Amino acid sequence: MDVTLFWLAGRPETGTETLAVTHPYDGREVGVVAVPTPEQVEEAVAAAHAVRDQAAALPVHVRADALTHVSRRLEERLEEIARLITAENGKPLMWARVEVRRAVSVFRFAAEEARRWSPTTQRLDTEPGGVGRLVYVDRVPKGPVLGIAPFNFPLNLTAHKVAPAIAAGAPIIVKPAPATPLSALVLGEILAETDLPAGMVSVLTVPNDRASDLVDDPRLPVVSFTGSVPVGWSINDRVPRKHVTLELGGNGAAVVLPDADLDWAAQRIGLFSNYQAGQSCIAVQRVYVDESVHDAFLPKLAETVGALVTGDPWDDKTQVGPLVSEAAAERVEAWVNEAVASGAKVLVGGTREGATYAPTILTDVPEDAKVLREEIFGPVLVVQRTSGVDEAFAKVNDSAFGLQAGVFTSDVNIAFRAHRELKVGGVIIGDVPSYRADQMPYGGVKDSGVGREGLHSAMTDYTEEKIMVLTGLPL
Ligand code: SIN
Repeated sequence: MDVTLFWLAGRPETGTETLAVTHPYDGREVGVVAVPTPEQVEEAVAAAHAVRDQAAALPVHVRADALTHVSRRLEERLEEIARLITAENGKPLMWARVEVRRAVSVFRFAAEEARRWSPTTQRLDTEPGGVGRLVYVDRVPKGPVLGIAPFNFPLNLTAHKVAPAIAAGAPIIVKPAPATPLSALVLGEILAETDLPAGMVSVLTVPNDRASDLVDDPRLPVVSFTGSVPVGWSINDRVPRKHVTLELGGNGAAVVLPDADLDWAAQRIGLFSNYQAGQSCIAVQRVYVDESVHDAFLPKLAETVGALVTGDPWDDKTQVGPLVSEAAAERVEAWVNEAVASGAKVLVGGTREGATYAPTILTDVPEDAKVLREEIFGPVLVVQRTSGVDEAFAKVNDSAFGLQAGVFTSDVNIAFRAHRELKVGGVIIGDVPSYRADQMPYGGVKDSGVGREGLHSAMTDYTEEKIMVLTGLPL
């Protein structure tokens, strides 16, 4: 098998070692990627550092044109890249195509945002001492960004790190997840086609046990990490003087209230607890159903989940494929078995075949079960009966996490109450917590992380205000 090269300051490079990429569904090898040596990593970081002032000074049209080029090329190569995502990650082709389409939009949004991104001014003659004075406020990059991407959206969550960096004029070093580097390396190839200065982007397939050297490097003052809770917070603790953005886990909750459209709620919750085999930080894991509609809702949900097409991710009809590895599916199985041993009931699913875990609904789950308290990151849904809005919202908030929550209601007063009372980064009214529009702010509170992604938010995160006061003006 040909070795896929990594991207060092815009050029393809081979290292001295390689890494095999396997397909989660059947374990076959689907790629071999080159791994950079420590010297090559040093070269990439030095190049990012050296180019930082040039990157910050790039005219907006150069940055926007590069972003538009990437968006267009991703669209042209959509099917090829979707197949790579399915090969490396095991997500069904239908979801892999959605992921590429989202990345096409992310780069387009970034180009639009780069064009909108402008300094502001503020009059200072609000006080006598400020007569004839004006402050000009610009945002300048903090410096080169280290982007560490996860396996669950190997292309789009890489896009969410790279696109805002380019839009804001910051160099970036990306480290894809070792299990799923192939689509990120195609992104590196497409970025190398642009007119961005060499050194502005490197995609380095560095193994996880060497990532701390990058995290510690003072030439990379911004770290944007998406991944597991313990690793994320350990990065934050390790480099307290850096600007760290963490997009971590969640145990997403949906609330179904008496005025909800039960068919719609059942369809959406059933699908989005299982999309990508539940391996999304905003997959639905907990459902709180008002007692007045619980008995009508549960059979609808069971029917939706039971009807999901599972199996071979290459089949166009498959909705739920394997988890990223057999070990991941075994962990899900162990957590479900533990809950069942403590009294939980399996309404649907509860079986495993290799890396594939069947879409599962659990009821009667004890409050301290891992399937409820921790992030399952698998196709498992816990349903509980609640009485009234107060109890439902209290249950949502009874979590170490706080990423997004969904509330199925059409009552605008309850919507605003949810927005005020739920301790999460985002509340979705009339839909699942899994809804994410890539241009909107996205991120969590509590253990779910710190900072926000979404193009404008990430650009804000990667930059800081710098002012200039003009004096003696004829204002
Ligand atoms: C995530 O799992 O954090 C990202 C979810 C998404 O982008 O849809």
